[in-house]
Amino acid sequence: MKIYLKIWRQKDATSKGKMVDYTLEGIEGDMSFLEMLDILNEELITKGEEPIEFDHDCREGICGTCSLQINGRPHGPDRFITACQLHMRSFKDGDTITIEPFRAKAFPVIKDLIVDRTAFDRIQQAGGYISVNTSGHTIDANTIPIEKENADDSFYAAACIGCGACVAACKNASAMLFTSAKVSQFALLPQGRVEATDRVLNMVRQMDIEGFGNCTNTGACEIECPKGISLENIARMNREYLSASLKG
Ligand code: SF4
Ligand code: FES
Repeated sequence: MKIYLKIWRQKDATSKGKMVDYTLEGIEGDMSFLEMLDILNEELITKGEEPIEFDHDCREGICGTCSLQINGRPHGPDRFITACQLHMRSFKDGDTITIEPFRAKAFPVIKDLIVDRTAFDRIQQAGGYISVNTSGHTIDANTIPIEKENADDSFYAAACIGCGACVAACKNASAMLFTSAKVSQFALLPQGRVEATDRVLNMVRQMDIEGFGNCTNTGACEIECPKGISLENIARMNREYLSASLKG
């Protein structure tokens, strides 16, 4: 395939960026999207030009670092996969593909396609710990009865990889889906109930401090989330937040 690329290039956090055109030939459908970028970078390096910086680590949908806005959609056109799991067979010969970093005030661009998502780390850190007795009399986890539905919902919430696609998809750059997944994975389990009140208040406060927008129930986050995190988590976080606020 021959493909035409329009890629965001930005020297550093303070420079003004712009879209730059590239053409690539000999692209196979079985290549991953990131392999296609590797090939482009090899060509650029051979020509003595600076390669395009983009985030990646696991390349198998686990780490959440490959935050690319592809043709205007976080992680590209296919649902329930990350950019690293996207293959070039999803595109046609002669296609033009735009690649940009995730756009949000709370995710400033560091260079080219790499954004600073440490705001997510700070939200998680604000959530703190869970109380587990490690004094030597630790209760075996399997002896604590947990309703199957709660165990399943907690597990699904814990599938969030912190990629930030929900923020990039949202017209308000809201981080409600991410934060609610992190609140829910603990709120649904007895071990997480001990600090539940402080956790939801602190995480929501940190989310606001970081400059993420409000949720207006558009639902784009759920559609673009590669892990299928449900909007039900936002409803649960709102209930947790209301009850925690009333407790004061
Ligand atoms: S909720 Fe989904 S889109 Fe948002 S950070 Fe988690 S995995 Fe990514
Ligand atoms: S590189 Fe790890 S999820 Fe894509």
